[in-house]
Amino acid sequence: MTADTAPLVVFDGVHKSYDGKVQVVKDLHLRIDEGEFLTLLGPSGSGKTTTLMMLAGFEEPSAGDIIFDGRRINNMPTYKRNFGMVFQNYALFPHMTVAENLAFPLRMHRFAKPEIAGRVKRALDMIRLDSVADRRPIQLSGGQQQRVALARALVFEPRMVLMDEPLGALDKQLRDHMQLEIRELHERLGLTVLYVTHDQSEAMTMSDRVAIFNDGLVQQIGPPDMVYDKPQNAFVARFMGENNVLSAVAGQVDGVSLRLRTPAGAELLAQAPDKLAAGVASQVLVRPEQVALGTGKDNCFSGVVADVIYHGNHLRVVVDVPQVGRITAHLAKSECHLCPSEGDGVQVNWPATAAVAFPADSETGA
Ligand SMILES: Nc1ncnc2c1ncn2[C@@H]1O[C@H](COP(=O)(O)OP(=O)(O)OP(=O)(O)O)[C@@H](O)[C@H]1O
Ligand SMILES: [Mg+2]
Repeated sequence: MTADTAPLVVFDGVHKSYDGKVQVVKDLHLRIDEGEFLTLLGPSGSGKTTTLMMLAGFEEPSAGDIIFDGRRINNMPTYKRNFGMVFQNYALFPHMTVAENLAFPLRMHRFAKPEIAGRVKRALDMIRLDSVADRRPIQLSGGQQQRVALARALVFEPRMVLMDEPLGALDKQLRDHMQLEIRELHERLGLTVLYVTHDQSEAMTMSDRVAIFNDGLVQQIGPPDMVYDKPQNAFVARFMGENNVLSAVAGQVDGVSLRLRTPAGAELLAQAPDKLAAGVASQVLVRPEQVALGTGKDNCFSGVVADVIYHGNHLRVVVDVPQVGRITAHLAKSECHLCPSEGDGVQVNWPATAAVAFPADSETGA
């Protein structure tokens, strides 16, 4: 590997156990390129914060190496790593004004006084909080405090920024706004970001790549659309977005698709990322936005509408299909006129390419 392509951060076979028994991070191999925005996404307790804390230097790996810019940093103290950090409740210093909070890391890094003043001013401009420079944190809203925390993490222009659920405490509108702001800063300053969230839409909006964690193991890593469209196991498929989950038994391969049979005897056509031997108990996952009403070539079944639910930008039509189970379809608002009513007999269908089959016992992928 040449110096040009060497990643900025490498987790090389990293394990972590807090008590010497339970491994909360297991054999982690992760590379982060310079300038990349990588998000760790996964359910509560899956090891995201632990991973971030090991990179930050607040926790030591139990085994394996962490490399930054070509150097092993397992035992390097946090302050020497020079990372910017933002946490969900990363308290600002309450006795300092906003401007003093921003100047603090610069003083720690021994910047000259005029340089500090200039950088604080630029940081305030960046987060559009010039007008509150002389206030103390308690006099700011939650969102304003979070923006100051963000600016404080970036004011000394670190190469690497670590963020752990930095927007978790904000309301949806402010969160959406801050997501764009962070993404823009990342692009403008060329920052390398390791971001932690359990909110999948946040991960999808912001990241170059997403690493899906479950039970201390990376289940899949890739660009957001790959992880969403081509899940490698049932955990990823179910964690990312909504799914219809159908039970079936694998049969024969037919061209690029696999034939499966439901307990009621219906035949399904699906893709199988892992080969499924005939007779294996399986689950077939189909996203509601892939289900259409009416007749179609593959996976076409008759049912009765059980419910129609109106959402902001789409309708959810729930159909009881005796041969396969309950199927939810999403209909765009523009298709409203096609929408049936409760009790109507309808047909549903979805393409063979839009259904994925996994072994029934592969839920954790572990
Ligand atoms: N300091 C600690 N001492 C002992 N166990 C810990 C410690 N910190 C975390 N754990 C345990 O390690 C596991 C992983 O925790 P971690 O905080 O990394 O999860 P997470 O993915 O960040 O979850 P969340 O989304 O809830 O923040 C959990 O089982 C947790 O209870
Ligand atoms: Mg956490």
